[in-house]
Amino acid sequence: MNVVALGVADTSRAALGDGTEHVADLAALRERMTAPGARTVVLGPAVPLELAVRLADEHRVSRPDVGIVLERAPQEAAAAEVLTTALRAGVREVVPAGDPAALQEAVRRSDTLSRALAERAPGGPPPQAAGRVITVFSAKGGCGKTTVSTNVGALLAAGGRRRVVVVDLDLAFGDVAIALQLFPSRTIADAVPLGARDLDFPALEQLLTPHSAGLTTLVAPTDPATGDSVPAALVTRVLELLREHFDYVVVDTPPAFDDQVLAAFDLSDVVVLLATLDIPALKNLKLTLETLEILSYPQERWKVVINRADSKVGLSMAEVEKTLQTRITAQVPSSRDVPASVNRGVPIVLDDPRHAVSAALRDFVERDLVVRSGTTGDVPPPLRRDRRRLGRRRDHS
Ligand SMILES: Nc1ncnc2c1ncn2[C@@H]1O[C@H](COP(=O)(O)OP(=O)(O)O)[C@@H](O)[C@H]1O
Ligand SMILES: [Mg+2]
Repeated sequence: MNVVALGVADTSRAALGDGTEHVADLAALRERMTAPGARTVVLGPAVPLELAVRLADEHRVSRPDVGIVLERAPQEAAAAEVLTTALRAGVREVVPAGDPAALQEAVRRSDTLSRALAERAPGGPPPQAAGRVITVFSAKGGCGKTTVSTNVGALLAAGGRRRVVVVDLDLAFGDVAIALQLFPSRTIADAVPLGARDLDFPALEQLLTPHSAGLTTLVAPTDPATGDSVPAALVTRVLELLREHFDYVVVDTPPAFDDQVLAAFDLSDVVVLLATLDIPALKNLKLTLETLEILSYPQERWKVVINRADSKVGLSMAEVEKTLQTRITAQVPSSRDVPASVNRGVPIVLDDPRHAVSAALRDFVERDLVVRSGTTGDVPPPLRRDRRRLGRRRDHS
């Protein structure tokens, strides 16, 4: 029995279907929750909030793979304090009572997450001290940041061999969810009420939207205006927590040096700087390189990647390297199959691993991004950034 329910209304019983065991009291529930196989617990409106929160709190460490879905009276379910308290305790979803579709959907999502967690639960690899943070950036839009970050995420995950999270920091216009065809119920904006100080991994984990084996995501808010409310300090906290629990944290960015992006840069082991072979993109790349220099970012952490590298624009790589006075680490060819794969919502590296675009990205990932065991210690500690020297930053105050 994968779903256990306590105190749900009769209408919800029907929605939950036959696969659900309804228990009569708390003792029975506790017993079922600790038994192997239990994946999702539904607590109905009859269960007091304090009790639900305590149960979630008790189990989130001992059984992180068991998800709790809370059904509340509609007014209560819409209250920010209820949601915040519940999520902080480790409750996965709060749904309004009397909405069978929402309940079914919440249980389904929780079950998917539980399965993914159970796979790595007992005997799985212990969380490593620090994963690698890779930020993909270009000061110009449309260079392929989202394409590269989602594909790099999929390549690093390698079908579940590594644990990878893609974070969408393009807080106003993020499209990681679209590129991966996800239907997220939570976004990074849901971490805002918890605050940088109180946010911990169990709470943050509830906000992730899984994609495929080894690959999960923290997506951008669906409402563009909400992005402004995500403070840079929260971004820092989110990335710190994620790198403790994932081998790789891949960060997609907006085309601007905003405070959130700078917070990501500060924690990044690698910054992938993307450009295409057109003058505006290269001009922006040059400005970016200058800015990074002003900020004293160690050069060995930048990797310049030219996307759509074979576009016929009459600029050779040698010319570009000379003009920019930097080495080009990798080139990704242009292909109509890329937008086609984005439209299908499947990263091209998964859709067509032998495609020239997939091969170029795979070479780059294997050669320049994957840390072979024993080399992690070589990464120098992050340098302090001198914000006073940064003139070109877009002001977000
Ligand atoms: N190598 C490529 N070849 C052809 N089209 C590409 C390539 N990389 C990206 N694109 C297309 O360019 C557009 C912008 O890419 P996207 O990743 O959304 O850029 P950004 O996130 O930098 O704004 C998308 O339609 C995408 O499919
Ligand atoms: Mg993008």
